[in-house]
Formats: sequence, C-alpha cells, structure tokens
Amino acid sequence: MVKDVIDFYYFSGTGNTLLVVKKMKDIFTENGVPVNLHKIENSKPEEVNLNHTIGLGFPIAELSTYNFVWKFIRALPETDQDTEIFMVDALAGFSGGIVGPVHEIVRKKGYNPIGVEEIVMPPNIFYIQDGKACNEKVQRGMMKAERYALDIVSGRSKWGRVPLISDVVYYISLAGLKVTKSNLNQKLLRLETNHEECRRCGICVKLCPVNNITLSEDKYPVHGFNCEYCLRCTSLCPRGAVSCPINYKGKTYRAVKAREFLE
Ligand SMILES: Cc1cc2nc3c(=O)[nH]c(=O)nc-3n(C[C@H](O)[C@H](O)[C@H](O)COP(=O)(O)O)c2cc1C
Repeated sequence: MVKDVIDFYYFSGTGNTLLVVKKMKDIFTENGVPVNLHKIENSKPEEVNLNHTIGLGFPIAELSTYNFVWKFIRALPETDQDTEIFMVDALAGFSGGIVGPVHEIVRKKGYNPIGVEEIVMPPNIFYIQDGKACNEKVQRGMMKAERYALDIVSGRSKWGRVPLISDVVYYISLAGLKVTKSNLNQKLLRLETNHEECRRCGICVKLCPVNNITLSEDKYPVHGFNCEYCLRCTSLCPRGAVSCPINYKGKTYRAVKAREFLE
C-alpha cells in the first residue's frame, strides 16, 4: 500500500518510459494517490522527500540502464523511515542487470522495495518496427503499466531478486557502459548534425539529458564526448538532422513529440 504521495522520478530517451510513467500516474491519480513527476536529469537525489513513496522509471540500456540514471539511484539518501520505493523500466526484450542490483542498493539504504515491473515497448535501436507493430506493442505496454499501478495501489506488487544471475549480468552491463563512456567509443560512434538539414533551432541542446550538445558560434550543434546514446537528439530533431551510427538502417523511433519532453 502506497503512502499519501508518490514522487515519481523518471528518465525517457525516446518516449516509451514517458508513456508508461504517464499511464501509471493516471491510474494512481484515479485511485486517489497524488503523483509528482520529476525528471531524473533535473533532480537532485539528496533532495528526495523520504516521507513520500518514491517511484523510479527509466529505459533499459546495455542490460541495465544509462550511467547518469545509475548515478541518481546510487546517490539516493539513506533512510530510517522505511521509505517505500518501486521501479519500472521500459525495454525491448531483455535486461537482467537491473532488477536485483537496484533492489540491493535501495534495500541497503533502508528503503522498503514494494514493486518492480519491466514493460516491453517498441525497440528504439538495432531494430525499428513498422507503425502498426509499434502501436500494438505500446497498447500492450500500457495495459501492463495499468495493471502494475493497480497492484502497487492495492499492495499486491512485489520486488524480488534472482541472486547470482542478476549480479553476473550487472557486471557485464557495467563493463559495457564503461566501454560506451570511453573516448575511443565516443569517437567511433559519434552522433553528427548535418548542417544542410539543421535549422539551428537548438532543441537538441535542450533535450540532451547530460548537456553533451552545445552550440557553436554560428549556432550549429556541437556533439561532445559524453554521449549516453539515449537517442533523444537523433529521434526528436524536427528535421531529422542528427545521425547516429547505431540507428537501424538510419531509421529513428519516437513514441511522443519533442514538446512533451520540454514540458
Ligand atoms: C543504447 C541503448 C541500449 C539498449 N539496450 C537494451 C537492452 O540491453 N535490452 C533491451 O531490452 N532493450 C534495450 N534498448 C531498447 C530500449 O530499452 C527500449 O526501446 C526502451 O523502450 C526505450 O525507452 P525510452 O523511449 O523511454 O528511451 C536499448 C536502447 C538503447 C538506445
């Protein structure tokens, strides 16, 4: 059973997690539980209100999640108030390195882990499905998000962990994330803005969760070397001007319009 208020901290690269989080918020609200949404990229973990129930929502990346999301989770304050916490992630198919490890991190900090759910949504990288297949997957995802939120409200949700396997996958994931951060990887898999397409609107600068995009003197975006590959800039650029070498056949996926990220 959740406390009076939920503070839901989330990150979404291309909109799938945002849809899940908004659906859950609607269900909580309908059931009389107010929800405050907080963007992880704009939030300070040390400022979370330990008297509220904490929600965490984010996409799976490299079998766990992005480095800056990990940073937020690891920096959550310790609590002696039995603060309830639940987690939801959006994924294309398989994670393995997140449910158990996050459970252990928050448990050791004194939280009461009340629920976890992984929700399959359309893939946004390596393989992009056609519109119909994406819509069907989103509909199934929304139904699962609804059931999960109801389970949280009624106290039926659970957050267990599979030891060993999840720890092994976690370390594989951390190694992958380290490679992603490396200069060599950042140079080889570099996102670029095509100046012929770019209208210099600067939306990519506002969308980047890790401030990795700046504007040059002539107002073209300059991509730095701290990209987390959340794909926001390439997926949401209104001109499709940002290319990413790991996009599937040059295609991009997005579940929502750019302005929903900027609200
Ligand atoms: C860099 C990157 C790595 C990913 N790694 C995984 C993964 O290991 N397992 C998986 O199931 N999905 C993976 N995905 C797919 C996303 O988790 C999935 O499409 C998710 O719904 C995206 O959520 P978002 O739109 O909120 O960013 C990855 C996506 C990206 C961009």
